[in-house]
Amino acid sequence: MTLPASIQQQFATDLHLAFSSAPRSISPKYFYDEIGSALFEQICDLPEYYPTRTELALLHAHAAEMAACIGPQAQLVEYGAGALRKVRCLLDQLEEPAAFVPVDISGTHLLAACAQLQLSYPTLRIAPVVADFTQPHDLPPHPTHRANPQQGEKAAQKGRRVGFFPGSSIGNFSPPEAQAFLSMAAHELRGGGLLIGVDLIKHPAVLHAAYNDAAGVTAAFNLNLLERARRELGAEVDTAGFAHSAFYNAPLQRIEMHLLSLQRQVLRLDGHSYAFEAGETLHTENSYKYSVPGFQALAARAGFTPGQVWVDEQQWFSLHWLQAPPL
Ligand code: AVI
Repeated sequence: MTLPASIQQQFATDLHLAFSSAPRSISPKYFYDEIGSALFEQICDLPEYYPTRTELALLHAHAAEMAACIGPQAQLVEYGAGALRKVRCLLDQLEEPAAFVPVDISGTHLLAACAQLQLSYPTLRIAPVVADFTQPHDLPPHPTHRANPQQGEKAAQKGRRVGFFPGSSIGNFSPPEAQAFLSMAAHELRGGGLLIGVDLIKHPAVLHAAYNDAAGVTAAFNLNLLERARRELGAEVDTAGFAHSAFYNAPLQRIEMHLLSLQRQVLRLDGHSYAFEAGETLHTENSYKYSVPGFQALAARAGFTPGQVWVDEQQWFSLHWLQAPPL
């Protein structure tokens, strides 16, 4: 696939910035080219990577309760829609959804996933929006009802705009970024709410295994960032000179992923040279873990009223219903 020049240009600019800063770090959004997205799909099925199967099990077990929170005739907005696997659990339970609006930056993937979904839900109105959902974006208009205290609870719930943000992708934002996103969502979803998946703090050994799988898929996913720089930007880099490094930073309650330089080496990009010493790293991702009350406090600071929470038996993963402010 040929990428729009602007995305490649942004990747090149951000790589130069990352290589020239100390400590060196780059946004995890650059993991997700075609190869990276396919590797991520593989990660989701790994035995060590518990978030996907745990969240899916929660969705399967409690979809009817979640659909009751969402209410009838909702406009359901999914932020950062990938394969659109999880939303099916909700769609199977929702009462006459008005529309499904997946928002994703990768237009090609989004349209392909929507075409697949439409086959299973032929009468559902699907209105994809190609946009970076963390930036200001337009959503299709929706005749959201103003809540009327005289109406019954169900009538007052009718026809709301409701967000869906599964996968604990919120964990890949820093806490200030997470709060900024949630504040934007609270405004956009006024009168409705947000159903969001959040990975929980747990024994470091479980976390360590999830990001250091035996098959090496997460390592390939991490190293693909440098491969991608080689493929798309012509960067001169010997990826064998780097190793995947992932560990739990307990004080900051986050998994950190890095690319660790195994020797002194020089990378070249657009005529610029960047030296890496042995042991130096490029920080590629944070994955924050929350406690239930810790996440609820963050959501409340962003303007939501925390509601029902669904947690698995091992208390590894949570799904939160957050009520947005009134219209
Ligand atoms: C997309 N995101 C929620 C994943 C995570 O667990 O933070 C990305 C990932 N990185 C390594 N494995 C999975």
